[in-house]
Parts: sequence; structure tokens; C-alpha cells
Amino acid sequence: MRRKLLFGNWKMNKTREEAKAFAVESVALNKYALAHNIDIGVAPAFLSLCGVKKMNPDLTVAAQNCHFEDHGAFTGEISIPMLLDLGVTWCLVGHSERRTYFAETNETCNKKLLALFANNMTPIYCVGETLAEFEANKTKDVIKEQVLVGLKGLTKENVSKLVIAYEPVWSIGTGKNASTEIAQDICHFIRELVHEQFGEVSEEVRILYGGSVKPENVKAYLSQKDVDGALVGGASLKVDSFKQLIENVVSE
Ligand code: 13P
Repeated sequence: MRRKLLFGNWKMNKTREEAKAFAVESVALNKYALAHNIDIGVAPAFLSLCGVKKMNPDLTVAAQNCHFEDHGAFTGEISIPMLLDLGVTWCLVGHSERRTYFAETNETCNKKLLALFANNMTPIYCVGETLAEFEANKTKDVIKEQVLVGLKGLTKENVSKLVIAYEPVWSIGTGKNASTEIAQDICHFIRELVHEQFGEVSEEVRILYGGSVKPENVKAYLSQKDVDGALVGGASLKVDSFKQLIENVVSE
């Protein structure tokens, strides 16, 4: 049985003080979520990772990116050993904004996934098609490439711990969320791709939907058979809204 997972991606938002304030307010929230068998977490900016962990040590905290090399001449980058040094054991990989604005490719995502697993970390690997690809009916071709190249060389054991987030680029921050049918169809497709490559372990992979998830629509997504949770941007920034997301998932 896969546990539900609600993850907030704060992107380039919040000062350290703002992030710490959220962390303090989310202590009870984390307990409430866990009591209802829902795992929650947030991905703050690098500079706030430490503060959030300190204020709410039980909350799962992810970095939004990492470099695949342990150290070296990569100005401006953050390595996996640096994250581990802070006690951070989760990391987003291949978010569409990284792919679009920072030229991240399926190949670099693959290197990051391999490096994260080599360090016993948990990646949330983001995939999704652009609007042009969606309109040209290329969604499944794009997702297939992202999944096959991204997961190359992973072991079954790695895959059992992997989280994949399906985030159609056209739905991110636009308010134009994908229908629940599309979310289920693509999350199921991703699970089938993983099954073809790695076998039964595909049933253990948690697959999230992301893109304009709000308290009003979160329950509908999580009711889909292959949607195990959500990766949430805008609606995760305020603790009240994050709380509402969790409460709405819990509600019957
Ligand atoms: P929004 O929820 O703001 O659409 O962002 C989704 C996202 O990119 C999460 O990673």
C-alpha cells in the first residue's frame, strides 16, 4: 500500500525568517498528517533548509536541486554531500523550471538520480510535457523519453524508493490544471513504463500530480488509482492553505 505524499515546492520564495515561521506553524500539521497516514514535506530554497529543519525536525525537507558531482569547480552549485551535511535527504530533480531556464536535460537528471541514490537520498523526479507538446499529442512520447533516460541504470531497490512527479508544464502556475482523467492516465502510463523496465517494484513507486493543485481540487486527484499525492507550488506557500490541502485529503 503506497502512502499518500503531499509536497510543497516553494521555488524561489520566502526569506529565512518566513521559512522558519512556516516550519514552526507546521509542527502540529505534520503530526496531524502522519496520524492520517499522509506524508508531507516541503522544498525550501537552499538558504532556508537549515532553518526549516531546525524548527520542525520531523518535517521532510527536500532541496530543489543538486549537482551530481561531489565537489569541484562548479560555481554556484550545491553538492549532495553538502546537503547531507545539513541532514537533508530528499531532493527534487528535473523540475520543468530547471529544464526550461537552466537547460537541464534527461541525461543530467539521470546523473543526479544515480548520485542521489548512491548517497541513500530520496529523489522526486519531475517529468511533464510543454503546451506545444500537449497540443501536438506528444505527451506520452515526451514522458517515455524522460522516464527511460532519467531512470537508466537504477536498481530495483532504487526504484522502490523513487518518487516521480507528473507536472504538465502548461498547468504549472497557470490555474489550468489537467483533468483528473489526464492525471490518472499519465500517472498510470508512467507506472507501466517503470513496470516494463523494472517489474513489480513499479507498484511501490509513488507518483504525484503537480500543476495548479489547490485545496479545492486536491482530493479529486488523490482519489485516482495511480495518483499517490501532489507536488504543490503556489498553494503550499501559506501554512493555512497547506493545512487546507491536507485536511481536504483527509476528509471523507
Ligand atoms: P503550482 O502549484 O503553483 O502550479 O506549481 C506546481 C509546481 O511546479 C510544483 O513543483
